[in-house]
Amino acid sequence: MAAGMDLFPLGIATGAAHCNRREERAELSRNIAGGTHTWLWGHRRTGKTSLIEQVLQDLARSEIAAATVDLLVAHDAEDLEGRLRTAVEGVGARIAPQGKQAGQRLAEAFRALSPEFSVGAMGLKIRLNPPGPPTRGITEMLLGLDRAAGMVGRRVVLVLDEFQQLSHLSPRTAPRSLEGAIRHAVERSANVAYVFSGSQRHLLAGMFEDEERPLYRLCRKITLDRIGEADYRAFIQHASETRWRQPVADDVIARLLKLTERHPYYVNALCARLWGGELPPEIESVEAHWSRIVDEDGRVAAGRLQRLPASQRAMLKAIAQSEDGVEHPGSHQFVSSLRLPASTANHARAALEHEDLIHRRGDGRWTLVDPVLSSYLRRSY
Ligand SMILES: Nc1ncnc2c1ncn2[C@@H]1O[C@H](COP(=O)(O)OP(=O)(O)OP(=O)(O)O)[C@@H](O)[C@H]1O
Ligand SMILES: [Mg+2]
Repeated sequence: MAAGMDLFPLGIATGAAHCNRREERAELSRNIAGGTHTWLWGHRRTGKTSLIEQVLQDLARSEIAAATVDLLVAHDAEDLEGRLRTAVEGVGARIAPQGKQAGQRLAEAFRALSPEFSVGAMGLKIRLNPPGPPTRGITEMLLGLDRAAGMVGRRVVLVLDEFQQLSHLSPRTAPRSLEGAIRHAVERSANVAYVFSGSQRHLLAGMFEDEERPLYRLCRKITLDRIGEADYRAFIQHASETRWRQPVADDVIARLLKLTERHPYYVNALCARLWGGELPPEIESVEAHWSRIVDEDGRVAAGRLQRLPASQRAMLKAIAQSEDGVEHPGSHQFVSSLRLPASTANHARAALEHEDLIHRRGDGRWTLVDPVLSSYLRRSY
């Protein structure tokens, strides 16, 4: 199993496990190096964090210093402020020049935050003491980091992953004022490039594409789609050569990519199991292992459907029925098969898209975002 997990991890995929994303990698690298802020959107588990980590590794040899804050684990504004502070203290210490004057120069940059410096076994340590409420602390810290980077002539990238969580933080501080606090610093940033990433499209689009909202127009958007079929074929063949010194049959790969719909997490989940075998997989073992994954994950995915109105459930199930997706979910023929009025069906389709449960693929056909849920629904009805 170990070989499979190395090539097809269930967590972050970088290095030998990272398939394609050449264009997105180049674009994100360019943005970061050029000081352009980015907002990176992709459905859940499409590889946002892997892309960012890969780009940070690509940039590791450059002079750009990076820090990442995962907002998923922050529960309120104070917590977010604390996590950002840890990140800023860490990256501040890393960009500090060698020598006795380091502290003095950074002290100036972080003056509003009463910085304390100490030198330990791991080198310089900075402690910041932000003033007042978290919104103010956040702005001061980010502005301080930008000043510090400018003073020492370094570039910094600050990644805020799962950024939509900002909208879910406990409302003691209004989320929009947190957004405002961040925007204030991002707007004035000359040396820090920001990467905002997340998966809940309607929340993020609200933050980044609504003229009324503070983050509007500050960032360039990168959308992460599924990895292309040809890229996956080449990648999987290479992994087969690495594992068994022989290729996998083309129709086996085709089946594997069809069942998983090239959803990166499920490609990896399935391949990790198949790569545990003694020989390259045959179609039967692809089907059998996929079936087991659907057994394990399908019920959980389907649990989400219980909260949906009946019309949306009907629409979702009908779209799932077709392995090839549905070209016109609004067509008279399709809608009448659901026994729903056209307007209700239309509304249901829009709601499912809004909830990121269905999407329109590159070829224009509508499918479920989650291939396990698709298989589960096809099997159950
Ligand atoms: N470029 C890639 N090549 C191969 N596998 C990948 C690639 N990108 C992501 N994966 C795989 O897809 C899955 C999801 O990756 P990752 O956690 O980076 O996605 P994410 O979009 O950040 O997910 P989440 O929405 O949960 O934060 C993991 O199993 C990872 O190994
Ligand atoms: Mg992620």
